[in-house]
Amino acid sequence: MDNNLWFKDAVFYQISVRAFRDSNGDGHGDLHGLTEKLGYLETLGVDCLWLMPIYPSPLKDDGYDIADYYDVANVFGNLGELKALIDAAHAHGIRIITDLVMNHTSDQHPWFQAARADRHSPYHDYYVWSNTDQKYTGARIIFLDTEPSNWAWDEKAGQYYWHRFYASQPDLNFDNPEVQNEMLNVARFWLDLGIDGFRADAVPYLFEREGTNCENLPETHAYLKKLRAFIEKNYPGRILLCEANQWPEDVRPYFGEGDEFHMGFHFPIMPRIYMALKKGRVTDLLEIINRTPAIPENCQWCTFLRNHDELTLEMVTPEERKWMWEQYAPDPRMKLNLGIRRRLAPLLDNDRRKIELANSLLFTLPGSPVIYYGDEIGMGDNIWLDDRNGVRTPMQWDDSPNGGFTSATPFAPLLEGQYSPQHVNVAAQTADPDSLLRAMQRMIAARKQIHAFGWGGFEWLDAGTDSIAAYTRRYKNETLLIINNLSDQKQTVHVPFEEATDILSHENVSLPSLTLRPFQYLWLLIKK
Ligand code: NOJ
Repeated sequence: MDNNLWFKDAVFYQISVRAFRDSNGDGHGDLHGLTEKLGYLETLGVDCLWLMPIYPSPLKDDGYDIADYYDVANVFGNLGELKALIDAAHAHGIRIITDLVMNHTSDQHPWFQAARADRHSPYHDYYVWSNTDQKYTGARIIFLDTEPSNWAWDEKAGQYYWHRFYASQPDLNFDNPEVQNEMLNVARFWLDLGIDGFRADAVPYLFEREGTNCENLPETHAYLKKLRAFIEKNYPGRILLCEANQWPEDVRPYFGEGDEFHMGFHFPIMPRIYMALKKGRVTDLLEIINRTPAIPENCQWCTFLRNHDELTLEMVTPEERKWMWEQYAPDPRMKLNLGIRRRLAPLLDNDRRKIELANSLLFTLPGSPVIYYGDEIGMGDNIWLDDRNGVRTPMQWDDSPNGGFTSATPFAPLLEGQYSPQHVNVAAQTADPDSLLRAMQRMIAARKQIHAFGWGGFEWLDAGTDSIAAYTRRYKNETLLIINNLSDQKQTVHVPFEEATDILSHENVSLPSLTLRPFQYLWLLIKK
């Protein structure tokens, strides 16, 4: 198998470095702390870490507002410590990708400071300026709860500047060839340091054109293809993962002919997994799977259940969004923009059966799964923290008051009650063979042994009831049969196979008839 296609089979793990492990007693997680935990991540079985932004930043958007593309913020360590982390991770067989935020900088970035101070500065044209706020009115506002417009007035410049996110994040002007080159240089810098690729933030919005919604424009694809060609030529085997919160048919062009992104998040599948679990019916999930176009062989989808943002409901209909809010955000504090700021375990009533079932779907549908740190132990959230901070609380390593995260006062409060470190932590779940963590380890280990998960085709199997999500994944001489019971009732299914091995329990299973308990899932390897 082509090793440059490692990502096809990989399990990803997303980390907020700030929240993972504090090694120097300042209350903030850091690179050295993460390095100390590589053994844990290796035992969990993950192949690639995605680190959220670690660059110097005024933190108006938790680091997605970058003030210097060429350094690590002091609070996390320094470039030497990052290099040490990368080397140590590689020694553990783990790769690392980081966020590449191309669309915008922080307003504290020296480019923007120069741009606003002097219209004749070469940096002025690094950003998108206008004398009126009535341009590009076809573009939607993303941070609806806080931003009244995509334009903000800058006193110093005496002009409006364009921003798709917070006003403190001015958009870069990709029509300027200098900006295009700057981003290639940024990519080069981190790739030279040994980073295995990038999760490319907010890529649909790079260019603006009047009369469009300013998303997914041909100019954007042309630039991204340049970036890919640059990586392909100089750093083969490193990857680009696309963050485009779009419908499958609009994400499809980001794969190009296998010459743009290696990977792309599948946003619309995610809320439909929650719909399926709540309704006990697979219909909406199946519909979006059927609506998903094929992608080139050298590409892969990335699937996820939760991440550091709100559970986004952009890729559902207005009626579905209303329904999701009713079902999953009963308290108004749980809503944010077009989404829900809660974690996996609380969303699924802290019900082990549902949490495992959601993960079963995550791990067995086409694509490479991304686990959000803490979800492997069923961490909770704190809806009373601002913005999306309630799902970015300190990782819970043990049952000590600060959860083994820090010896100092943590940057954010530890969770309390049933989700506190006393009840939810790595140490206890490591010791307990029946814990969620150990179940997750088994799922990941099983996934690693069988290439059909990453490479196999997907064929729906009609089980006679829409309470069952059953499908095969076939690759070369392997056939996997996956059966998920979405309902709270037991279900009997008949499948067109005779004998199989349960790859999670290693037991033989006799077919064609099977009865599944409520919310039970089975991963079966068919015997020829
Ligand atoms: C998407 C990131 O996931 C989110 O956290 C951030 O606020 C925006 N992009 C802006 O960079």
